[in-house]
Amino acid sequence: MTSAPTRLGGLLEPAQLSSMSLRNRFAMAPMTRGKSPGGVPNAENAEYYRARAAGGVGLIITEGTYVDDPAAGKSESVPRFHGEDSAAGWRTVVEGVHAEGAAIIPQLWHVGAERGDDATLNEGLPARSPSGLALSGSAMGEAMTTAQIDHVIGAFADAAALAKSIGFDGIELHGAHGYLLDEFLWERTNRRDDGYGGSRADRTAMPAELVRAVRAAVGPDFPIVYRYSQWKSGNFSATLADNPGELEHVLTPLVDAGVDVFHVSTRRHWLPGFPDAADGHPVKGLAGWTKELTGRPVITVGAVGVETVFVSKGPAPEVPIDERLDILREQYERGEFDVVALGRALLADAEWVAKMASGRADSITVFGTR
Ligand SMILES: Cc1cc2nc3c(=O)[nH]c(=O)nc-3n(C[C@H](O)[C@H](O)[C@H](O)COP(=O)(O)O)c2cc1C
Repeated sequence: MTSAPTRLGGLLEPAQLSSMSLRNRFAMAPMTRGKSPGGVPNAENAEYYRARAAGGVGLIITEGTYVDDPAAGKSESVPRFHGEDSAAGWRTVVEGVHAEGAAIIPQLWHVGAERGDDATLNEGLPARSPSGLALSGSAMGEAMTTAQIDHVIGAFADAAALAKSIGFDGIELHGAHGYLLDEFLWERTNRRDDGYGGSRADRTAMPAELVRAVRAAVGPDFPIVYRYSQWKSGNFSATLADNPGELEHVLTPLVDAGVDVFHVSTRRHWLPGFPDAADGHPVKGLAGWTKELTGRPVITVGAVGVETVFVSKGPAPEVPIDERLDILREQYERGEFDVVALGRALLADAEWVAKMASGRADSITVFGTR
């Protein structure tokens, strides 16, 4: 990559995400590791996050962490977000990141039908999802009862309150990629007829109720970030909304319920969110549309500083790496987003931001080249 701090322009300037003050506009994207045996963040985990904070990002979004529901996850080695042992582990993570000058929020997670039928965590317990359907549309586990929905909503609210008490700077709700909250939003996986399913507006009822419960648990000033995506695990052409009007119907109830910031998970930040609705704009990514439709600050993401498109080592992007950085800066200058998240770039090189900012781009280890 070519070295030039100017290539990043205003992205190195401080940002305000709701009540969170960030030293720059780079965040670490949430990335599951499976390196917390027993679900408890340990010293290695704390050092991993501390190193990324020391490497210059303004905000760290942790890997997905399970809320307190027996069917929330599938693996024993993914950190959980309940219990005193795990809270103590997270406290150490937070202290390490804060000492390096970055903010940190946990990504609260329930995997829904993606628990599958081979989970090792609480083995034998069926997956729970809106309609007992996997992302493929085939039967998987159980459709949730309203009591189970209430329990999950309470678990997210409790986790958010715990995050606040531990010293996190906010929380992110994992509403993307075909996990539980996204399964409520998506037509294919939500076939309920009890007010939690039906029209696009009905399908937002559970996620919106959950956001309201979280807001009630944390009070007015604690930032709630909501991550959503069009794509689902194993289905990159899936959509929740095929035009801006449909997207507005999905997002407005979440705004009304109390979401402060949207984290728009795309695999290529430079593609138009709705190619048929370009509005004369050179590019308006899904993040740009989200910002315009909700009036909320937005985090964008998707193949910044890497040589492949997600999944881990997917196809090479159509646009060269330096050109993509220029497009990113232009999108920022046009007001399409507030913060950009880096995923795999920070797996390959914890100091990506510091090196870019100080003209040492040539020394960056680029993900996808080794
Ligand atoms: C190893 C790995 C684990 C991931 N785990 C999560 C996760 O727990 N939660 C989530 O929302 N996204 C997860 N993602 C997606 C990333 O947050 C990000 O959106 C994706 O990697 C694209 O960004 P990038 O091109 O900068 O890597 C994961 C990605 C990777 C590579």
